[in-house]
Amino acid sequence: MSTSASQGEIVVGLDIGTTKVCAVVGEIAEDGITILGVGSVPCRGLRKGIVSNIDWTVRSIKDAIEAAQTMAGVEIRTVYAGVAGSHIRSQSSDGVAAIAGGEVTRADVERVLEGARAIPVDADRQILHVLPREYVVDIQDGIRDPIGMSGVRLGAKVNLVTAATSCVQNVIRCAERCGLVVADVVLEPLASAEAVLSDDEREIGVAVVDIGGGTTDILIYVDGGIAHASVIPVGGNNITNDIAAGLRTPMAEADRLKRLCGCALGRMVAEDEDIEVPGVGGQKPRRTPRRVLSDIIEPRVEEIFAVVRKRIEDSGLLEQISAGVVLTGGAVLLEGTTELAEEILGMPVRIGFPTGVRGITQLVHGPQYATGVGLVKYGAQAIADGHARAAAPAHSMMRMTAAAVKKSDEERSDELPKSSSKLWEWLKAAF
Ligand SMILES: Nc1ncnc2c1ncn2[C@@H]1O[C@H](COP(=O)(O)OP(=O)(O)OP(=O)(O)O)[C@@H](O)[C@H]1O
Ligand SMILES: [Mg+2]
Repeated sequence: MSTSASQGEIVVGLDIGTTKVCAVVGEIAEDGITILGVGSVPCRGLRKGIVSNIDWTVRSIKDAIEAAQTMAGVEIRTVYAGVAGSHIRSQSSDGVAAIAGGEVTRADVERVLEGARAIPVDADRQILHVLPREYVVDIQDGIRDPIGMSGVRLGAKVNLVTAATSCVQNVIRCAERCGLVVADVVLEPLASAEAVLSDDEREIGVAVVDIGGGTTDILIYVDGGIAHASVIPVGGNNITNDIAAGLRTPMAEADRLKRLCGCALGRMVAEDEDIEVPGVGGQKPRRTPRRVLSDIIEPRVEEIFAVVRKRIEDSGLLEQISAGVVLTGGAVLLEGTTELAEEILGMPVRIGFPTGVRGITQLVHGPQYATGVGLVKYGAQAIADGHARAAAPAHSMMRMTAAAVKKSDEERSDELPKSSSKLWEWLKAAF
């Protein structure tokens, strides 16, 4: 992944979540990424993955960056930031281009991807990622890497991920108010997947489900490419709310009870176990069976996985997810979650811990750090691609800064045919 030109470069992932901001500092080494520092602080500036209070978010980002900077002993200027929220949409698209010299080059690949993104997007939305699923060279389809192949016509089937421009801009604005430059804005589950998936899983089909505090993000890989992305506006905080209301206890206590004594599967809890529940408004604490707590939690977790299953079914990819589901996000630390997920989804489920990094990994060893670590890995790959591109122009996955995306959307709208099918027709006629 790393090129010699990128070795020693610092990459910082900034995961701005509904419950916490987490900054992860990595250094690109010859044989991978070394984690140098981590700063994780609570954040109350987001609602369901979307920035709702700039000042609070800015304060948390500053604190997280400062902590990560101190630990890593480096100055942080540029970050790769995550974005999520139910404004995220994904849709398929395709593009086609003539192969200029009879053999596919990186420039041809870039051109075909440009064509695939030339679809009408609402004025208040922007394309975040263009994720190739497969390439087609003349009549041969299912190609992962077409560079070097002979042919006259190159096609690409891609997945376009779009986001509300205002939500992306607010993430950038918060980071900029902390004196940071945002190198790129990345779909959070894409980052999480980067941290926890193996190539084999991507190849045989897998879904990453990141259950954070405010959102549940889904990303499905089939045949090595991304086939579906979506965000459900429900997460661990909904479980906490249910506990607070059901047991009449303050939110902070509900969260504590959930982490320490909660269980997503009632039948895993012994009948005779008791817990102490602090009262609200000065009322005395009382003892309650632990089963009561799991009876509150179970229906909510069940509901989350039922919606996940419906999304997977609606995507038409259920049969293609042979490797099952990998869970990330803090909420999946709840006891019994994996077991309940397996029952509802009817496929193998595992918890995803960040892998493929070295250094102080014990500080990021948990599914709640998958996004932060994944942002570092994504950034390192983007830097390596950039260097590769400088040497020989091109790369396989289009990465653009959010600002560049917006600008190029405007520039491109006049230059390219509005639909790729028109382009197909043109090419068919030409050859
Ligand atoms: N040990 C635990 N058991 C149960 N729940 C937990 C545990 N640890 C954390 N959580 C829950 O995980 C959620 C936070 O997860 P995470 O840090 O992944 O969210 P986030 O990234 O801030 O939010 P989002 O990704 O939704 O914007 C909270 O609801 C928290 O209560
Ligand atoms: Mg998160």
